[in-house]
Amino acid sequence: MIDNMNDSVIKDIPERYMRIKVATEALRFNMASDLYTGSLLKTLAASKPAGRLLELGTGTGLATAWIVAGMDNNSSLITVENNELLIEVARRNISDNRVEFVLTDGYEWIKNYNGEKFDFIFADAMPGKYDLFDETISLLKFGGLYIIDDMLPQPNWPVGHDKKVADFLSRLEQKPELIITKMSWSTGLVVAVKK
Ligand SMILES: C[S@@+](CC[C@H](N)C(=O)[O-])C[C@H]1O[C@@H](n2cnc3c(N)ncnc32)[C@H](O)[C@@H]1O
Repeated sequence: MIDNMNDSVIKDIPERYMRIKVATEALRFNMASDLYTGSLLKTLAASKPAGRLLELGTGTGLATAWIVAGMDNNSSLITVENNELLIEVARRNISDNRVEFVLTDGYEWIKNYNGEKFDFIFADAMPGKYDLFDETISLLKFGGLYIIDDMLPQPNWPVGHDKKVADFLSRLEQKPELIITKMSWSTGLVVAVKK
């Protein structure tokens, strides 16, 4: 074993992440993205200088903290969440003028958005992933990244969710404009690029 290939040692955890984690545990929010996903998001965010980034499902901002840590000064992030209590934790801890926090319903936001397309979308809510998938992919620029997690069985999955995931993966694989890589790593990740 090559010791420094041990991926369970994640050294570059953003300071904001640590603060948000404490608040997240106090709220008993159990849908948070894990450290592996965070680390990958940071790396991929850094691949988009002056990028326009979108996160659907801010939660308390754990993944947001990683994304922001990878962004350069000219990048911007819109992050959408419908739960005020959760997004306020993110807003309080990530005070950064590159980030726009949007408290609204993700379904309405996707349907109504008519601004510039995105270089990077982390879809971590029902809208943008299982629902309004085609609409969300249409918000990506060519060469843009579409990233999802939680594709492997998780303890908080409701009954029947495995079928939903399998159907969604088939849909992803059949979308001709996407090139995808599946990773049975972390909670089960997929990275897709729009061609
Ligand atoms: C898996 S969690 C997101 C976790 C977050 N990315 C993190 O790193 O901790 C999904 C989030 O989507 C939010 N959500 C669910 N339905 C939504 C909707 N219709 N519009 C906007 N947000 C929604 C939930 O409140 C929850 O915070």
